Amino acid sequence: MAVSPEDELGSLLPRVGIRPPGPASRALAERLRSVESRNVTFLADDWPVFWEEAVGTNVRDADGNVYLDFTGGFGVALLGHSSPPVVAALCEQAGRLMHGMGDVHPPSLKVDLLERLTALCPWNESVGVLASTGSEAVEIALKTALLATGRPGIVAFEGGYHGLTLGSLAATSRALFRKSFEERLYPGVAFAPFPEPWRAGGTSAEECLDRVGQLLKSGAPNGDPVGTLLVEPIQGRAGVRIPPDGFMEALSDLAADANVLVVADEVFTGMGRCGPMFASELVGLRPDVICIGKALGAGLPLSACLAGRSIMSAWPESEGEAVHTSTFLGHPVACAAAIAALRALDPATRGERVAERGARLMRQLKRRLSDAPGVGDIRGAGLLIGIELVEDDSTTPAHGAAARVAAIALRRGLLVLPAGEAGQVVELTPAVVVTDEQIDFAVEVLVAAVEPGG
Ligand SMILES: Cc1ncc(COP(=O)(O)O)c(C=O)c1O
Repeated sequence: MAVSPEDELGSLLPRVGIRPPGPASRALAERLRSVESRNVTFLADDWPVFWEEAVGTNVRDADGNVYLDFTGGFGVALLGHSSPPVVAALCEQAGRLMHGMGDVHPPSLKVDLLERLTALCPWNESVGVLASTGSEAVEIALKTALLATGRPGIVAFEGGYHGLTLGSLAATSRALFRKSFEERLYPGVAFAPFPEPWRAGGTSAEECLDRVGQLLKSGAPNGDPVGTLLVEPIQGRAGVRIPPDGFMEALSDLAADANVLVVADEVFTGMGRCGPMFASELVGLRPDVICIGKALGAGLPLSACLAGRSIMSAWPESEGEAVHTSTFLGHPVACAAAIAALRALDPATRGERVAERGARLMRQLKRRLSDAPGVGDIRGAGLLIGIELVEDDSTTPAHGAAARVAAIALRRGLLVLPAGEAGQVVELTPAVVVTDEQIDFAVEVLVAAVEPGG
C-alpha cells in the first residue's frame, strides 16, 4: 500500500489508536522484566511504551501509536530524530569505515570533528578529548582540572547532575543516586546551593555566592584544597533551573580570584539546545573547560571535553600509552553524524532558529498556563523549558506531579519527562524542527494534563 506523505513520520500530530502502553509494549515489558536488571527500566501499568521508529518530532511505538516527542530523546535529537543529512552521512561512513583506532591509528574524521569543535570554543587556542557519554566527558574534565591545578577538591552544586559513573557521581548531588555508593565516592566534593529566584524563600544568589566563596577558601569536606568549580550553566535535570542575571559572572569572578578552574557541564545545555552553541555565553559563565555530549552526536553516542591548550597541556604528552582513552574514542560513524549535524544546523544560524522555536513555545505556554492552578513557574532558554508544578500554597514543589502529567500526556500522544529533585518539573526539550501546529497541540495537552484530575 502506498504511504501518502501525510502519513510519513516527521511532523505529524499524534495518532494514538490503542491506549498506551498497548499489548505489544506490555508484552515487551514482560520480556524485559525477565532479562534486564530491575534497577534500569521503570515498568508499571501505564509506563513505558517501546519505541520502534522515530523521525523528526515523531515516534512510533510497538503498537503503531504515533507520538509527538517533546523529550528529544533526553535532549539528544535537537535536529529531530533521524535527521536525513545525519542518516545519509552515517550510513555512508558505516559502509566505508565503521570503526577506527581512536588513539593509535585514528580515523581521519576525528581530525575534522575536533577542528570544527575547537573552532567553536571561546579560547584562543583550544584542544579536546573525544569520548562517548556525557559522564565520561565529565570524568575527563575532572582529571584535567586536577592535573592543571594540583588541587583535588571540587565545589559543585546542589541539584547538579553530572552522570552516574563513580567520578561524575561524586559530584552529582541527588541522594537517590548516591546513597548506596557513598563508600566508593571521592569525599572531596562540597555542594553549594543553586539560586532559586522563582521560589518564595528560595536561596538567593547572594547566599549561594557567599557559600561558594567560603568553600573555595575553606576547602573540601575532607580537607582537600579546591581546584575545580563544576557547574551546569542552567541546571537541566534538576528542573531547568536558570540562574539569575549576574550570578554566573560573579561565580566566574570568585573562581578566578581563587585560581580555581571553572568546568562548565554543557552536556545538556550545549550544542545549541539553549540557543547559543554554549549556554555559558547566555548566562555569563566564563568556563575554563567545557563538557558536551547529548546533541553533539545527533543520536549516536559521542561526547567531548574541550579546553584551552594551556590547561590541556597539564596532561603528559602521549609516549605510546594514552593515559586517558577508550576503545571507541573518535568513533568514525559518530564523528560523521556530528559533522553532518554541525553542517545541517550551521553554528552561525542555529541559535536564531532554536531561539525562535523556543520563544513560540514559551509564549504559548505562558499564555495558557501562567495562571493555571498548580503551575508555579514557567522558565526556559531556547528549547530547554521547564514547567514547575506546586502545591496549593503555590510555593511548595508538588512532589511527583510531573510524572503524573507525563503519564497523562503519554495517553494523549505527547512524550514529556519529569525533572527536579521532587519530580515537580515537566521538562520540555523538543527538536528545532517542531512545527507551529505541534507546539499548539502540545500546549493543549499540557493544559489539560496539569488540571487537577487532568
Ligand atoms: C548536565 C549533564 N551532565 C552529564 C550527564 C551525563 O551524561 P550521560 O548520561 O551521557 O553519561 C547528563 C545526562 O543527563 C547531564 O544532563
